[in-house]
Amino acid sequence: MKTKAAVMFEAKQPLEIEEFDLEGPKQGEVLIRYTASGICHSDYSILHGVMGGRSPMILGHEGAGIVQEVGPGVTDLKEGDHVIAVLTPTCGECVMCLEDKPYMCSQMARLMGGCRMLDGTTRFSKNGKPVFHMAALGTFSEYSVVQAGSLVKVGHNAPLETVCLVGCGVTTGVGAAVNTASVHKGASVAVIGCGGVGLSIIQGARINGASMIIAVDPVPEKRELAMSLGATHGVDPFAEGGPIKQVKAMSPNKLGVDYAFEALGRVDTTEQTWGMLRPAGRAIIVGMTNQSEKIKLSAAGLFGEKRIKGSGYGSALPKRDIPRFVDWYLSGELKLDEMITKKIKLEDVNQAFDEMGRGEGARSVIVF
Ligand SMILES: NC(=O)c1ccc[n+]([C@@H]2O[C@H](COP(=O)([O-])OP(=O)(O)OC[C@H]3O[C@@H](n4cnc5c(N)ncnc54)[C@H](O)[C@@H]3O)[C@@H](O)[C@H]2O)c1
Ligand SMILES: [Zn+2]
Ligand SMILES: [Zn+2]
Repeated sequence: MKTKAAVMFEAKQPLEIEEFDLEGPKQGEVLIRYTASGICHSDYSILHGVMGGRSPMILGHEGAGIVQEVGPGVTDLKEGDHVIAVLTPTCGECVMCLEDKPYMCSQMARLMGGCRMLDGTTRFSKNGKPVFHMAALGTFSEYSVVQAGSLVKVGHNAPLETVCLVGCGVTTGVGAAVNTASVHKGASVAVIGCGGVGLSIIQGARINGASMIIAVDPVPEKRELAMSLGATHGVDPFAEGGPIKQVKAMSPNKLGVDYAFEALGRVDTTEQTWGMLRPAGRAIIVGMTNQSEKIKLSAAGLFGEKRIKGSGYGSALPKRDIPRFVDWYLSGELKLDEMITKKIKLEDVNQAFDEMGRGEGARSVIVF
């Protein structure tokens, strides 16, 4: 069959919208029609060479849609099921899955790194040449073939144009707060970067009962949105004093916060989390910094028993957490509609990337 998709032929160049050939699902695979896809900063980072990628590659990894056809061996999904595409296939057999850490499933590393199916081949092609798809999801395509394990079923009452965000940004952010950090009731929290991921961290911290949530972002509209979603204070990192001094001055006893999250993907902001922690506080790094970069932390913080931890995919167990986060949305606890700045057509994807580069808007969602 044919499908229209947005593909990266070369890093740092606009995506091209073209028709591609798509083969049907093989053993353990599913043909999905995406109805919507969010645009995450990780798509932007691949396009701009901050994260590694392959070319030509259909980008997008935050999608939801409807199962069209299942390949041999797929027993838990059927035509018509509504699903959210997830980053980890949770193979259930690798050492990480056996340790109950499917968010680090070894198959996930293969799908993210290879950007093709687990059998090493691609289902997309153009003029007989293979075309890769990001994380073997490729949600910037109306149709895609994905591993069955990469889909989690949701009820027909969940609007796919909204809950697609749960596929990446929301699970990453809410999960970082409620799973990775287990933010405690009454805690003080700072979140650096209030895009889709940071706003989700803020909501996770609110749901867990944090009493002080400081949103750090240079864009005033982002801070306002953060306050409407649960932040109690806003900080412009470029205002006098800089982010560390300002956050510390607001924190209980001016000691620093219990938890500082980085949700941007930069070395300087990662280092800032360490500086704004109170003794024995915890820095949680969610942003994806260029993997070759080095981070410098003051040794003094070690004597203060500070801790720093990365968070991958919100330490999520997709089959438990995706339906849980969708339920929180349906009950009104988790606000997702407010995080969607624009619903756009696939053809407008490059404009949405430009806006993301300027820090405008929280999430743009492509609606097919
Ligand atoms: N760990 C994971 O599993 C995982 C999963 C998804 C995304 N990510 C990463 O999370 C990060 C955030 O993604 P996103 O989609 O929310 O990005 P985004 O582009 O939507 O948001 C980034 C925000 O940072 C703000 N910002 C810019 N400069 C700043 C500064 N100096 N201080 C504070 N804020 C600043 C921008 O105004 C914007 O609001 C990215 O690095 C992305 O790759 C990680
Ligand atoms: Zn993402
Ligand atoms: Zn596994």
